[in-house]
Amino acid sequence: MKFFIYLMISLLLLSQYSNGSNLIFKSCNEASKNDPNLSYDFCVASLNEASCKSKSHPSKLEDLVGLSIRLTKSNGTNIISIISKHLKNQTHGEYVRACLQDCFDLYNDSLSSLEDAMVAFNESKDFDTANINVSAAMDDSVTCEDQFKEKKGESETSPLTKENHVYFQLNVISLAFIEMIRQRR
Ligand SMILES: *[C@@H]1O[C@H](CO)[C@@H](O)[C@H](O)[C@H]1NC(C)=O
Ligand SMILES: *[C@@H]1O[C@H](CO)[C@@H](O)[C@H](O)[C@H]1NC(C)=O
Ligand SMILES: *[C@@H]1O[C@H](CO)[C@@H](O)[C@H](O)[C@H]1NC(C)=O
Ligand SMILES: *[C@@H]1O[C@H](CO)[C@@H](O)[C@H](O)[C@H]1NC(C)=O
Ligand SMILES: *[C@@H]1O[C@H](CO)[C@@H](O)[C@H](O)[C@H]1NC(C)=O
Ligand SMILES: *[C@@H]1O[C@H](CO)[C@@H](O)[C@H](O)[C@H]1NC(C)=O
Repeated sequence: MKFFIYLMISLLLLSQYSNGSNLIFKSCNEASKNDPNLSYDFCVASLNEASCKSKSHPSKLEDLVGLSIRLTKSNGTNIISIISKHLKNQTHGEYVRACLQDCFDLYNDSLSSLEDAMVAFNESKDFDTANINVSAAMDDSVTCEDQFKEKKGESETSPLTKENHVYFQLNVISLAFIEMIRQRR
């Protein structure tokens, strides 16, 4: 009897888990077909990890938008603390420090954009606003990266290339999912 209860519980957990990851596989696949900027592998890896960590069981595409925006916000928060560490590093030249300060402000703004996107998406189902706000967050990472290249005559190496790239990709995923939901209506 006990054995059967364990078996049922395991099967239940397993089916919930596989439903969640099936949804992730299917959605990432569709999204990456629509958008050449979206890497299928990155999409699956990021969302699976986020869904495990948050112990959430996404059952529909709407849940994945929430998951992906929340993941992006937590990534952005981490990036801000990485930038703060760079700002304390006296080895960085004056130009790079000015860029880092701008990037700090850009990422801080982008967190507000994502907050607004979440509210627009969740509460008012206003997909246009959600799209505008996520796009703004995405552009912030591009602006941050581009600044380092804009020095007169030469270009500085950005210490944030990896972070900017990941943040860009995460926002591309949210945008693609929002678009997929819009098209289904
Ligand atoms: C892919 O990203 C670039 C910027 O890196 C952008 O100019 C382009 O429009 C994007 N393509 C799509 C289909 O979103
Ligand atoms: C948005 O809705 C999701 C469930 O779909 C929930 O997990 C999330 O906490 C909500 N976020 C906000 C900011 O209301
Ligand atoms: C951001 O997310 C990516 C993909 O999930 C992860 O590999 C990376 O460690 C995260 N970085 C930060 C700073 O949170
Ligand atoms: C400080 O910045 C320099 C130059 O970019 C780098 O080589 C060094 O590893 C950094 N130090 C710390 C503690 O991050
Ligand atoms: C970050 O953004 C928030 C909300 O927009 C603002 O209140 C805060 O002053 C900003 N923080 C810094 C350090 O710029
Ligand atoms: C989000 O988009 C709306 C609509 O364009 C805009 O009014 C709002 O200021 C945006 N939020 C942020 C933080 O930029």
